[in-house]
Amino acid sequence: MKSKTSAQSLTINTEVVLPNDTNHVGNLFGGKLMQWVDITAAIAAQRHCGRVVVTASINHVSFENPIKQNSVVTLEAKVSRAFTSSMEVYVEVWFENPVTGEKTKCNEAILTFVAIDQNGAPLPVPQLIPETDLEKKRFDGALRRRQLSLILAGRLKPEEATELKALFVKD
Ligand SMILES: CC(C)(COP(=O)(O)OP(=O)(O)OC[C@H]1O[C@@H](n2cnc3c(N)ncnc32)[C@H](O)[C@@H]1OP(=O)(O)O)[C@@H](O)C(=O)NCCC(=O)NCCS
Repeated sequence: MKSKTSAQSLTINTEVVLPNDTNHVGNLFGGKLMQWVDITAAIAAQRHCGRVVVTASINHVSFENPIKQNSVVTLEAKVSRAFTSSMEVYVEVWFENPVTGEKTKCNEAILTFVAIDQNGAPLPVPQLIPETDLEKKRFDGALRRRQLSLILAGRLKPEEATELKALFVKD
């Protein structure tokens, strides 16, 4: 299977915050943003592997700045590393003031997707070749994040987490 770059999975999604998307204080509802994040990231994962994918885990999400109604929101997703059937995807989110056009980064999320066949069984995916310094940094950190996610999901014993066991297990 031919390896791919992060750039090949780049997925950009632009949305506008309508009244129905807001919470009780007039900002974008976090659950709505997560829906946009999940869909944008899933498309990036599908572009990487050319298969149907499912969300296996939301590894990290941060809400740094509130997003006001009427803001234009841009989500940018790229695969940061591929394992056997799973792929880590990074999503960055900006909002844009509709009058001034000024852009502010407001959110970052990291998710894991798994490629599946028609019976829901995992399928192998192409490996990822990082190119830029940022892509190499994300690629290197992905193994630690995968192990942490698997420990938290009860799928990996802390003593088997080569990258992390010092955090969990005393010598
Ligand atoms: C994700 C899913 C396909 C995994 O299937 P499985 O039969 O448990 O398969 P495996 O144990 O072989 O795991 C497959 C891959 O998923 C990865 N994975 C599973 N859970 C994970 C988690 N919580 N975090 C990170 N990776 C995870 C495994 O590490 C493995 O990766 P690898 O092949 O790259 O090594 C299955 O659990 C599933 O279908 N879950 C529901 C997905 C879904 O419906 N999502 C939408 C939510 S509404």
